[in-house]
Amino acid sequence: MPTASRTSARTARKRRNAAPGLFDVAPSRTTPIPTDWRKRCFSNPKAIIRLGTLFSGIGAIEHALQRLKLRHEIVFAGDIDSNCKKSYFANYRISEDRWHEDVTKFGAKRHARNLDLLVGGSPCQSFSMVGARRGLEDTRGTLFYDFARVIEESSPKVFVYENVQGLLTHDQGSTWRTILSVFESLGYRVYWHVLNSRDFGIPQNRQRLFVVGFRDKSVHFDFPGPIPLELSMQDFLEDYTESKFYLRSKGVKFVTSSKNRVKRYTQINGRVALCQKANQQFNWHGDFVFEPHVSDMDFDEFTFDVRTVEEKYYLSEAVRRYVLAGGTKTFKTSTETDLPVARPLLQSMHKMHRAGVDNYVTHAGRIRKLTPRECLRLMGFRDTFKIAVCDTQMYRQAGNSIVVDVLIALLRQMDITRFAR
Ligand SMILES: C[S@@+](CC[C@H](N)C(=O)[O-])C[C@H]1O[C@@H](n2cnc3c(N)ncnc32)[C@H](O)[C@@H]1O
Repeated sequence: MPTASRTSARTARKRRNAAPGLFDVAPSRTTPIPTDWRKRCFSNPKAIIRLGTLFSGIGAIEHALQRLKLRHEIVFAGDIDSNCKKSYFANYRISEDRWHEDVTKFGAKRHARNLDLLVGGSPCQSFSMVGARRGLEDTRGTLFYDFARVIEESSPKVFVYENVQGLLTHDQGSTWRTILSVFESLGYRVYWHVLNSRDFGIPQNRQRLFVVGFRDKSVHFDFPGPIPLELSMQDFLEDYTESKFYLRSKGVKFVTSSKNRVKRYTQINGRVALCQKANQQFNWHGDFVFEPHVSDMDFDEFTFDVRTVEEKYYLSEAVRRYVLAGGTKTFKTSTETDLPVARPLLQSMHKMHRAGVDNYVTHAGRIRKLTPRECLRLMGFRDTFKIAVCDTQMYRQAGNSIVVDVLIALLRQMDITRFAR
């Protein structure tokens, strides 16, 4: 399975161009229609939704149901990672006997026809083993096989399957065609679409493939449409962060290096976060926050002079005077620098300097990584979510999860309560 690197994105684009019509094979893809799913009411709000999850992680769908205040019963859930279990048990009501570890050893026959909703996103390892004959057996040895097998065994009324969008182009579309045909061979009406969380109220550029299947083949489904993004990443930041999140000079040099920023490995004070990844915090990748130095704070050991980092971003004295001049005779502008929320970035900003239009920061400051809580917020988890594992695990689990707000949009749009009693 290709990773979401730029190289694989390029390869994917090339393949798409080389194989026109590749996507015509999807029989029931729908284009989102601009209905406002936020205004949709649940037809059966008192229903108890019987939920099963696979590869459960930190339970994005469970948190979505909590946020929606929908009643639900966790029929089964599981994850092979014991740290995920810690997070899961700290946050959701579930007994030991409903939890499984390795999905390949989990049998769901005893839950046959006893499930309203099944949700999971199999890790994308071993997709290369998917063959081209397009049957369930053909996917054996992949974790997708186990997701499909559990559908076959438990026959949920609805399933939601999430994965990286690279799945669509893997092996020139052959893997995806196989997966789609497996879902259909199980007797489901299937809809799929790539959704970006920034279109669902969360300022993170995270594009994921969502497949929704209905056992009742007469169900028609339109994916929820985008809503305007009203919040920026700065709205998700904590007021106070511990010193351990601040970078020392080596980290600062890496994060501010133009090479890493151009490649979008790093971003500082972005309005919309880069796509969170499980391991981003360990290799100084992802989003960072620049805080101008405030003298009465005792983080001096992390304060640095930005000029020593990337000299070329510093303005000459003449340009600095012009930038801070506040406009011309006929055009006055605010020259505030160090704004808590950045002005929109303009493509002209590398040639034209205007403090009222672009973003400028003063020299001294600190750079910090996002905290685990901030990463959770940027995945749609409210602060009611209890952190029960160490920072390293929390970052990983947040980066692996599904954006809760996208799931909320799907649940509202399909009116999940009509599938439950
Ligand atoms: C992409 S994450 C899914 C996270 C989840 N959707 C959430 O809301 O947090 C994939 C998860 O599958 C788990 N996993 C990998 N292999 C597994 C296996 N054989 N059995 C069960 N879980 C497995 C990983 O530990 C990881 O938590």
